[in-house]
Amino acid sequence: MTLAGKHILVTAGPTHEPIDPVRVIANRSSGRQGFAIAAAAAEAGAKVTLVSGPVSLETPSGVDRLDVATAEQMAQAVFAALPVDVAVLVAAVADWRVEPSATKLKKGEGPPRLEFVPTRDILLELGSSRHRPPLLVGFAAETERVVEQAVAKRRAKGADWIVANDVSGDVMGGHRNRVHLITAEGVENWPEGTKEEVARQLVLRIAGALA
Ligand code: CTP
Repeated sequence: MTLAGKHILVTAGPTHEPIDPVRVIANRSSGRQGFAIAAAAAEAGAKVTLVSGPVSLETPSGVDRLDVATAEQMAQAVFAALPVDVAVLVAAVADWRVEPSATKLKKGEGPPRLEFVPTRDILLELGSSRHRPPLLVGFAAETERVVEQAVAKRRAKGADWIVANDVSGDVMGGHRNRVHLITAEGVENWPEGTKEEVARQLVLRIAGALA
């Protein structure tokens, strides 16, 4: 029971940004890594709030789950859950959305011209918020210069740690992961493992940091 008495907030999965009543902009995130972290934190005795995008996964036992669809809904659920001791933002949040059409876009009208607008950056907002959790952990999904970009992301987002993973292979949607933990002290290259193994390792590190 290494996290007894601590409240951990986890975001997981993709977001779905509507284009019209039947179409969305989505991504390949399965939610598995975030759900595994929520499960491991609950096993370690934490109170866990899991804000999940649309996924097809069972809620881990002992976890309070809130389902959302869009980045805006995820942001609202995250800020409503504060204060927490730790936030681990694993979700693959859409960076852009469009103004959705109230009615279905018809093929006969030709290809739609989608105008993208930025979504809220939840990690960035949390990093500079009044209620910034004492330990703020982000993920970085990169396909090139993984560590270098994750080191820059840690500073840019105001996070304490960044868990960096190379998503150029089949990590997104897959069962295994190989990550690098970026902290203020430096870079740790963790061995490849299942998403459950990576989750337990991260929860151990979190418990150590809070102790
Ligand atoms: N994130 C977030 N809100 C967003 C976008 C990202 O909270 N609107 C969080 C993710 O949950 C993750 C971290 O920010 O913890 C980094 O996400 P990533 O997609 O790797 O980076 P981006 O900020 O989207 O930057 P880029 O796509 O340019 O790499």
